[in-house]
Amino acid sequence: MVNSITIIRPDDWHLHVRDGEQLRAVLPYTAKQFARAIIMPNLKPPVVTTAMALAYHARILAVLPAALKSAFEPLMTLYLTDNTQPEEIFRAKTSGIVQGVKLYPAGATTNSDAGVTDIAKCYATLEAMETHDLPLLVHGEVTDPAIDVFDKEKVFIDRVLVPLVQRFPHLRIVFEHVTTRDAVAFVKEASSFIAATITAHHLLLNRNVLFQGGIRPHYFCLPILKRETHRQALVEAAISGNPKFFLGTDSAPHSQANKENACGCAGIFTAHAAIELYATAFEQVGALEKLEAFASFHGADFYQLPRNNSYITLNREKWTVPEQYEFSGEKLIPLYANTELNWKAVDAPVKMH
Ligand code: NCD
Ligand code: ZN
Repeated sequence: MVNSITIIRPDDWHLHVRDGEQLRAVLPYTAKQFARAIIMPNLKPPVVTTAMALAYHARILAVLPAALKSAFEPLMTLYLTDNTQPEEIFRAKTSGIVQGVKLYPAGATTNSDAGVTDIAKCYATLEAMETHDLPLLVHGEVTDPAIDVFDKEKVFIDRVLVPLVQRFPHLRIVFEHVTTRDAVAFVKEASSFIAATITAHHLLLNRNVLFQGGIRPHYFCLPILKRETHRQALVEAAISGNPKFFLGTDSAPHSQANKENACGCAGIFTAHAAIELYATAFEQVGALEKLEAFASFHGADFYQLPRNNSYITLNREKWTVPEQYEFSGEKLIPLYANTELNWKAVDAPVKMH
């Protein structure tokens, strides 16, 4: 039995860290484990310009604990709207800090009201992204209320993604947090310009947990957890070694009060144990040796950024996830609160064999 693995320090290619005191509360969990993270722009108001992304970048660096200052780099994104101009893409690309533009179909998820109402309105901007080679990051769910919530991702592929890829064959696209067998098949068959992130919670859980003994708001996220066959397809993709699939936690903190609510927010907080949760999922299928490429190589390669050169060690060590974390005067309930995990991450200055 393997009791310790050392891997190149991973990156989180999809992360929500919020702003202000909430940002200060959650950022250290990610910065302790990951060298870089793609920071989602769905603030209120959303990060729609390069100037806003630069300001957000500065706020993130300002709350990074001193010990982590040189160890962590936030990679910024712009929030695509119907009105995003092609000139903004040039500014973003040349800023050196913006690594992608996020497409939220309007109304699809938390703080997406300002999102895109009709992708056709963005064609000129998408063309600029294709020209300047700035990746499009996609929340792949339709918002049509007639579509069953469990089918929204599949219908998005057919209605939006397939035509988009045909129109912009050289636009790099990250299909974020894929949750279905259909999405895995689409990405596998698509060109090398198309990749996908997979969350730890979609690797570990199927939709049954949503209703285990009652309704469980802390398992509610978007895209919603799917049935077991889909979870298995995600695990197969993650451990396949296929460079199109890489780590993106979609850790999305909301206060306990906003989760345990008659209209609870979507989002699962996983940053407290992100790499440990992935290690758990990979070990369950005997594929721990596949973790490093998924967590530390494939994303950097797709984003055309250098691979990291520091390390992290995961030790087989039991610890219990706290019941809650502090969240700007409120409580934050993490995934697997009060539950024992078998892996614990620590810094590794050098690779040990
Ligand atoms: C995210 C959030 O809370 O910002 N929620 C979620 O369930 N994943 C938004 C998102 O990525 O869809
Ligand atoms: Zn997200």
